[in-house]
Formats: sequence, structure tokens, C-alpha cells
Amino acid sequence: MNQFTNLNRLTNEEVMQLIEQAIAFKQGTAEIPEQKRTVANLFFENSTRTKSSFQMAELKLGWSQIVVDPSSSSTAKGESLSDTLKTLGAIGVDAVVVRHRQTNWYEPLLHDESGLMPILINAGDGSGQHPSQSLLDLMTIYEEFGHFEELHIRIVGDLSHSRVARSNAEILQRLGVSVSFAGPASWYPEDFNQFGQRVELDDDLSAIDVMMMLRVQHERLSEAADEQFDAASYHEAYGLTVARYERLAPQAIIMHPAPVNRGVEIADSLVESPKSRIFKQMANGVFARMAILTSVTEAKHAVTN
Ligand code: CP
Repeated sequence: MNQFTNLNRLTNEEVMQLIEQAIAFKQGTAEIPEQKRTVANLFFENSTRTKSSFQMAELKLGWSQIVVDPSSSSTAKGESLSDTLKTLGAIGVDAVVVRHRQTNWYEPLLHDESGLMPILINAGDGSGQHPSQSLLDLMTIYEEFGHFEELHIRIVGDLSHSRVARSNAEILQRLGVSVSFAGPASWYPEDFNQFGQRVELDDDLSAIDVMMMLRVQHERLSEAADEQFDAASYHEAYGLTVARYERLAPQAIIMHPAPVNRGVEIADSLVESPKSRIFKQMANGVFARMAILTSVTEAKHAVTN
């Protein structure tokens, strides 16, 4: 693992090692590596959690960080992403954390042979992957239940635009989870059939261990679809209402990657409810990202030496 672009390209063993490493950082039992690195954080799409928790992870590791603001960088003058990242490599940046609206932005860069490209860490690509979110989600589930096999996880909502859903569906299935999907038919990508079963949201609610609610991604909807969207109807049909919450099993938990559209995909009063792990997910994100940063830079160092 000398790039971190798609969690689903790692083996189950590598994913489990990252989860264990993240938990060890959280518990204070993992050693902070002596070797310090420099990371550049480039967010071409808005972010609160991912950006600030990568920054916090870098601070906790004692690393140096450069924040490149896309709106005032030379990408605004037309410089390609490839040239921007090689420039950062040339000035001594070890790794770049990049969020970009383009799905698979990293794919052509993985084949770069200039020797200038820093380690690539994907902080979210369009409707593609969100591997660091997926890792923190797995960490949160593993802390809660201690295993993945035989869990039943339902992923609900705007599946077609969600990189969180796409990242999580495959790895959860590979780890032995029974995955089901619910939400509007027009937001269901047929290729998700390979990872789980599409069901009605209300089916077997008492058998669910994790309700993973997804944000409605207004920024990725067409203008017409966004104009037609009705928050109250959506909440009634596909949201986690108080009535649905009351049907969940005692051990069940609620997750959401956030930001949350309160009252749309989840009732406002449930965001901080006893079953909600939404803020725990955010706290775990720092430790998951410490595990990613250290693992990927150590692996690269081992390869290049
Ligand atoms: N969950 C998530 O990616 O949040 P941000 O967009 O705030 O980073």
C-alpha cells in the first residue's frame, strides 16, 4: 500500500491492519513514528470533517502541513492537477491529500513515471470513492460489535451519488456483512446488486445492526431534480423517522457520514440520540487518518529503499 486511493484495492488483511492501527492510535498504544513528513492538503470540493481531521491527524503525528487553496493556486490559471502535484513533489512534499469533483482523479496519476509525484491520498473523488471515510466507518462498526461477519447493515438514501456508499458496500460485503440497500429507485445503481440486496426501507427493521443513512447530495442533482425535491416527502418515505427508530433492535446503531440534512435523511432529534454514532465517527476519523498517513508513507519508504 504505497498510495491510498481506493480501500477496495486492499486485501481484507490490510484493511483489518489499518483498523487495528487506528484503534491503537486512539487507545494511545501505537508508537508515533520518529520520521516526520510533509503533507499538502488540497480540497477542490468543500469539506469540514475530512479536511480538518486530516489536518488534526498530521498535527498529532508532528508532521508539517501545507494547505493549498485551489481558488488561489495556479490550478485557477489552468495548471493541470498532475503538474500541481508534481510541483509539490519537487518542492519536498511527501504526500498529498486530495479531494476532487472528478471521479477517479487519481487513476492517470498512478502511472506517472516522473519520480516527482508525491504519495496520493484520496479524500473523496466525485461519486467514486471516499476511502478514509470508509475506514473510519469500519473502525466505528468494529469498535461497536468486535466483528463484521453476520452483521446486517442497511445503506439508505442517495446511493447513486454517494462515494461513501460505493466505498462501503464492497468492503462490507467482502468482510462478511449482509448488506441491504433502500431509497428512491431512481437513485439505485444496478451494479450495487453485486454487493447486496435492494429492499424496502421498512423491511425487517428489527433485524438491522447498523442503519447507515446517506446525505442527499444536492450539489450532484440536476437543476430539475433539485427543484422537484421535497424534503418532507423524502423524510417520510426514505428518512430515519422517530417511528422507524423505535422499531430498531436494542443493539442497533445509526451512522451518517455528515454533513447531515437534519429532518431530511434523519430526524433532527435523532442526530444526537443514544443509538447515533455520528459524532463518534467524526472523532474516529482522526485516528483512521493517522493510520492511513503512517501506513502509506512507511510502505512507500520501504519500496523506495
Ligand atoms: N463526511 C465528509 O466527507 O464530510 P466533509 O465533506 O465535511 O469532509
